[in-house]
Amino acid sequence: MVADPSIESRVCPHAEWHDRFDMTAPAFGDDFDEIAVDLVEHCPVARTVDGEYVVSRYADVKRVLLESDLFSSGTGIRGKNYFPKSEEMLRPNEMDQPEHAWLRHSWDRFFTKEAIAVHESEIRRIIDGLIDTFLADGEVDLVAQFADPLSCRSFCQAVANMPVEDMPFLQRAFQAALTAGSMQERTENWIATHQYVSRFLEQRRSEPRRDDIVDAILHFEYPDGRPFSMGERASALMQVTAAGLVTTGAVVTGAVYHLASHPEDRDRLVSDRSLIPRAIEEFLRIFVPAPMVGRRLTGDTELAGVRMTKGDFVWYNLGGANRDPAVIDRPEVVDLYRESNRHLTFATGRHRCLGPEFARMNIRVALEQFLDRVPDFQIQPGFQPHFEAGMTRRMTSLPLTFDAPGSR
Ligand code: HEM
Repeated sequence: MVADPSIESRVCPHAEWHDRFDMTAPAFGDDFDEIAVDLVEHCPVARTVDGEYVVSRYADVKRVLLESDLFSSGTGIRGKNYFPKSEEMLRPNEMDQPEHAWLRHSWDRFFTKEAIAVHESEIRRIIDGLIDTFLADGEVDLVAQFADPLSCRSFCQAVANMPVEDMPFLQRAFQAALTAGSMQERTENWIATHQYVSRFLEQRRSEPRRDDIVDAILHFEYPDGRPFSMGERASALMQVTAAGLVTTGAVVTGAVYHLASHPEDRDRLVSDRSLIPRAIEEFLRIFVPAPMVGRRLTGDTELAGVRMTKGDFVWYNLGGANRDPAVIDRPEVVDLYRESNRHLTFATGRHRCLGPEFARMNIRVALEQFLDRVPDFQIQPGFQPHFEAGMTRRMTSLPLTFDAPGSR
């Protein structure tokens, strides 16, 4: 309980976030790090403008993730106003046991290290093709010309075998649904992608099987015989497509932004590629692209000293957890040599991300190819980074300049 708000605002520059947390406020994108640090230090349980809870300390976030019978996903993970409205629930994200495990485990084999490795050469080719489109220009907006299209194509084209000519539509519509514009615009784009995915599934149903993730979704059956509708199948393909679409590119952009503003780190990675995997873990920790996900309580509990009751909605804040000094040593420092990095960027527990190996491979190949072909790059003078806020977080543009080959 705060006795004197003027004292609190002197101690916590972001005190208004303690009881008026608003993911849609532009400041949530741009002041994300400071807000996260402030919440971890001063306000382990904040309240949103809609009266929902936000937990930020590592141990509390982990408890929410691990106690998934109490902190349920089945009635929705998106809270009130933060995600396009849709009739279908996200599958398998918005499911509880046992349905969740049945569906999710039917996909696991497509996301093992070995299964992912099969796609690496094609993804490297896609990434090189993107670099070809701007290399001679000596300048690039890394988000629009590299990070966004690579996330879309690596999954939709290389893994889900969607037609190459549909990539511009998919990239534009999914990005708009997840990150841009009013909620009405997002919802319209979400519906457009849902219609596309439904038509694509119908088309694939009439073709011979390829034994890929799309077939796994098309032919999934519950072991107890209950129905799994075409709408749910479309929702499942939407979820797995959308999940990697904004996230991977956001980390690539964050990584290149850090390397452009810390040339000593860039030179280290250029001269020793074996440092890249560990550096990626640090970029994942800092530029966390899906920081806020929600759960609904199925019973009463106490969390970080706060009484909560059945039906309450609780967000976990990975920005806070990944900067909690109780677990991460000197969390404010981007340390590419960090040995113990227990970030929660892919969450944990039953709903832990399905795609970490795929995401890591994409980010690694993107950095390898970019550093190989554009080893010396600078941020355009005067540029101020701006981050989109919401359940996902990413830099909206990153203008770089570099010497085009043959320009000297
Ligand atoms: C840097 C990249 C990524 C990040 C940071 C990320 C983050 C996350 C997080 C935090 C969750 C947990 C949601 C929850 O607690 O309810 C999640 C779930 C999920 N992710 Fe990712 N993700 C990434 C990339 C991917 C990719 C590339 C794919 C697949 C192509 C993917 C597929 C999924 C799926 C299917 C789920 C739902 C899992 C379940 O409910 O069992 N993700 N992801």
